[in-house]
Amino acid sequence: MAGRIVLFGATGYTGRLTAEALVARGQRPLLAGRSGDRLAALAAELGGGLDTAVADVAQPQSVFELVDGGDVMLTTVGPFARWGDVAADAALAAGAHYLDSTGEPPFIRRVFEHFGPRARQAGIGMVTAFGYDWVPGNLAAGLALRDAGEEAVRVDVGYFVTGEAGMGSFSGGTKASVAGVMAAPAFAYRDGALRTVRTADRLRNFTLRGRELPAVTVGSSEHFGLPQAAPALRDVNVYLGWFGPFSRPLQAFSLLGAGAMKVPGASGLTARLAERLVKGSTGGPGPEQRARAGSHIVAEAYDRHGEQLSTVQLGGVEPYTFTAGILAWGARRAAEAGMLESGALGPLAAFGLDELEAGCREAGLTRV
Ligand SMILES: NC(=O)c1ccc[n+]([C@@H]2O[C@H](COP(=O)([O-])OP(=O)(O)OC[C@H]3O[C@@H](n4cnc5c(N)ncnc54)[C@H](OP(=O)(O)O)[C@@H]3O)[C@@H](O)[C@H]2O)c1
Repeated sequence: MAGRIVLFGATGYTGRLTAEALVARGQRPLLAGRSGDRLAALAAELGGGLDTAVADVAQPQSVFELVDGGDVMLTTVGPFARWGDVAADAALAAGAHYLDSTGEPPFIRRVFEHFGPRARQAGIGMVTAFGYDWVPGNLAAGLALRDAGEEAVRVDVGYFVTGEAGMGSFSGGTKASVAGVMAAPAFAYRDGALRTVRTADRLRNFTLRGRELPAVTVGSSEHFGLPQAAPALRDVNVYLGWFGPFSRPLQAFSLLGAGAMKVPGASGLTARLAERLVKGSTGGPGPEQRARAGSHIVAEAYDRHGEQLSTVQLGGVEPYTFTAGILAWGARRAAEAGMLESGALGPLAAFGLDELEAGCREAGLTRV
């Protein structure tokens, strides 16, 4: 029998979209969050008499009581650097598979390095960052590496948003998470190992539809997930192309920021300032605004001489629609069929390349 899907964070912006996506796929998630009233209102809106449960990270036991062995813990409770550990611990203690919506590099690293060995021991799969950040790049790179064959040792991934995309196209939760990330070091997979580097330490252009578009490096799940799936890889570079002409100033800002962070107390101060400036749970783009935006992901595989061997591009829906759809797909798949391995897994190791491509298609992203 399939385990239950426990959606923790159901009343948040992404949680609600994910609840809708699950119900649209015929699933009956347990809706969990902090407010019984808001959960009841959401359950009534979704129909079908879904069960609800009140749980708050501030009372860890309430989160531990949400899941049993064989369930799937699907959490959208963020920022994860602040709130993420309890749901991961609860999944581990119960023997439940785990998926989350984080995009935050420090938390991704924590899942792979801190929770991963315990997940392997417990025989469960933990898939972090199973949203727009950073599933599409794992898929695009997986396809590019398959096309490239055995010579490939490096892969570059670029993420771009298309259509109408401004600050209003990000949810309060995303802004809160990004604010925290600015204050933390990032990482990259270089020369066959994970290295701590600053965000935006590299900049390059990608050619999309005949246009040269700049993008800067970021820490993401590809740095862990791709070497797992393709052990011959020596370098994984992931670039964010959301900033257009601001990419180079951002790189300078990041360099200055890295220097400033060496001043004692500066990083805590920046994090506190970011928290004050950016509040979570302030909603996000509505359906019309989401419909006006889209996304484009490119992956390029290279051989050891730097010759490009293959390129793959994905395109389709904007980040939040994709995130809700792929989280719903992954949770259903994990509940019905489990994951391919145990431990902290990249999307490819958890589900396989062909399955993941089918899941992304269902969530609105296809090869273009
Ligand atoms: N990977 C991606 O591409 C992607 C896409 C979308 C979002 N995200 C990430 O997902 C997270 C959620 O984003 P969002 O847009 O949904 O933000 P949001 O609307 O602010 O939602 C945050 C959620 O966390 C819950 N929460 C906060 N403190 C809690 C606590 N102490 N105990 C239990 N729950 C608590 C909130 O509960 P209440 O409802 O009770 O306030 C809410 O459900 C963020 O970290 C965001 O960066 C990532």
